[in-house]
Amino acid sequence: MKILLASSEVYPFSKTGGLADMVGALGRALVKAGHEVIIVTPLYRGIQAKYPALKKVDWEFDLPLGWRRIKAGLWELKRRREATIYFVDQPGYFDRAGIYLENNLSYADNAERYIFFSKCVVNLARYLPWRPDVVHVHDWQVALVPVLMAHEKGAGWGNPPPACLTIHNLAYQGIFPGEAFELTDLPLEYFQPGAVEYFGMLNCLKGGIAYADLITTVSPRYAREICTEELGCGLDGLLRQRQDRLIGILNGVDYSEWNTNKNKHLPKAYTVGRLAGKQVNKLELQKQLGLPVSEAIPLFGTISRLAEQKGVDIQLGALAEMLNTNMQFVILGSGSPEYERGYRDLARRFPDKVSVTIGYDETLAHRIEAGCDFFLMPSRFEPCGLNQMYSLRYGTIPVVRATGGLDDSVVDWTQNAAQATGIKFFDYSARSLARAIRKSLVLYNQTELFKQCQKNAMKADFSWDKTVEEYLKAYQSIQGLK
Ligand code: ADP
Ligand code: GLC
Repeated sequence: MKILLASSEVYPFSKTGGLADMVGALGRALVKAGHEVIIVTPLYRGIQAKYPALKKVDWEFDLPLGWRRIKAGLWELKRRREATIYFVDQPGYFDRAGIYLENNLSYADNAERYIFFSKCVVNLARYLPWRPDVVHVHDWQVALVPVLMAHEKGAGWGNPPPACLTIHNLAYQGIFPGEAFELTDLPLEYFQPGAVEYFGMLNCLKGGIAYADLITTVSPRYAREICTEELGCGLDGLLRQRQDRLIGILNGVDYSEWNTNKNKHLPKAYTVGRLAGKQVNKLELQKQLGLPVSEAIPLFGTISRLAEQKGVDIQLGALAEMLNTNMQFVILGSGSPEYERGYRDLARRFPDKVSVTIGYDETLAHRIEAGCDFFLMPSRFEPCGLNQMYSLRYGTIPVVRATGGLDDSVVDWTQNAAQATGIKFFDYSARSLARAIRKSLVLYNQTELFKQCQKNAMKADFSWDKTVEEYLKAYQSIQGLK
């Protein structure tokens, strides 16, 4: 099959979160399964310098955007055993210090930037000599693609391929003032509640949900949750209407990136059969972060965007209580300034127990995954979550709230002691999380049980081979629909 993927971020070229990991890995897995894949993504600042093998494609975009026309170039990166990447080169939009924001402020022209990018995707899907069998777009930034394709079908594009939309996070919908609709150049009939209109505003994700031939989300449980009022973020009604076209597919893990055996980021390699190396990583991490170095002190970690979704408020509450016991906590993250301040305050209160690193650091992320005994992920909601799956492979017991992909990927110690891979809690409250941390400390002290749990975790298999089969089946289900 020929698959055109489009995403506003793709690892290793750009990344703010799991979306980049997922799209990069999906591309690789599809190629490994024998398919042809092109991934379209913006050419952000720094990519060209880092990848000198980029080649200019003989292609120029010159597309309407409201009352103007905007030009852009196209660059290509061919890689062995990997998807080909097409980078849309529009310096005014993409040669910037950030991807979506700078100094915690979203760029004021994000509607313009990503509507233009979506139009480039449609232009490629329609006119590339390489004809895709399916166009698969990810999140609100490219969610207008299925709408634009549907419109072009009526405007001379006889037989467009089917479009699949993956929702990685329903909380981000790309909602802009109604005037932004003009940038789409679609006829006014699309600005109505059955399409992109949402209380007088433009809602990009809503358009995608209404028009995609298939909607997927990144775990089966989240696919059910978004059809409820509680987690439907205002779109549950539409999602229920489209439920026959909505499926949940749990993300895979790219084990060639996230492994403990051949990993340039880790001080010491280890495997499920040679777990002793994990302790070396723990001691090195404590040393690196300036904490008392001791095998005996249970070490908890978190790596996260510091956003409401991630359960920061209950984590700060639970830790304030639990740090009075014998434990250490390390966090790597960045996001909302008030949450950053919250963690810094915690470190000031417990200087010999807490280490806070504000920023983005890939090497430290691997070292935290490897060096900790437990990984805390108390999300309010979590479409899939990748860090808990990375933790499993690293033998770091995830302590998670039972929501979305966290619930789908972790086996709880209380519910099934023999096959347990982690600890779950249910209520969204600091008390409930504190209880789960206390439970972790009990498990830590039962050395044999703890080791068994680590081994179960490391053996759990979330490889892409399985996930990619589900995507292929999904793509096949929409072939010939048109
Ligand atoms: P989300 O996409 O909602 O942020 P995921 O768990 O799916 O959550 O993916 C997060 C990804 O981003 C993981 O690869 C994680 O390691 C990475 N990440 C998040 N924050 C940081 C950070 N501060 N430094 C390095 N990596 C980070
Ligand atoms: C989103 C979600 C996260 C998911 C990731 C990749 O960022 O918040 O749960 O793992 O996308 O699909």
